[in-house]
Amino acid sequence: MYVGPLNVYSRLTTQRDRTTLTLYRINLKTMDKVNISEKLSQFNDFYNPRIVGELNGQYVKAVKLKGEFVWHHHDNEDELFLVIKGKLKMEFRDKIVEVMPGEFIIVPKGVEHKPVAEDEVHILLFEPAATLNTGNVENERTRKVLEKI
Ligand code: NI
Repeated sequence: MYVGPLNVYSRLTTQRDRTTLTLYRINLKTMDKVNISEKLSQFNDFYNPRIVGELNGQYVKAVKLKGEFVWHHHDNEDELFLVIKGKLKMEFRDKIVEVMPGEFIIVPKGVEHKPVAEDEVHILLFEPAATLNTGNVENERTRKVLEKI
């Protein structure tokens, strides 16, 4: 049986022991930096987000886009799209916003949107862990289980 830090944690009785172990786990989890290009080099498929970071119940996801996504909205989550490479066209029902590398756009909950990538676009997404990529729509583009890289 694997006895890792999570199992050990429940057996610790003193606050000092728990604090020590919590600090140990924080060190294990967060003291490595993440190179975005290196993460993006690990996959080549489109519209299949990978989890590259986690904080405060949010995921940081890396994803490559090419072509049109589907119209959808998210009932409960705002989404942030940070463009790393290429030009993202974020279509709304009343306008289109072009987002360039080094720029981001936040789509508020409830707002219909359709990402469009005429050429290949690489982005980071910031959104709650529970967010489904196709929001209120389920189709062949829906990804319920995401790989962590
Ligand atoms: Ni969305």
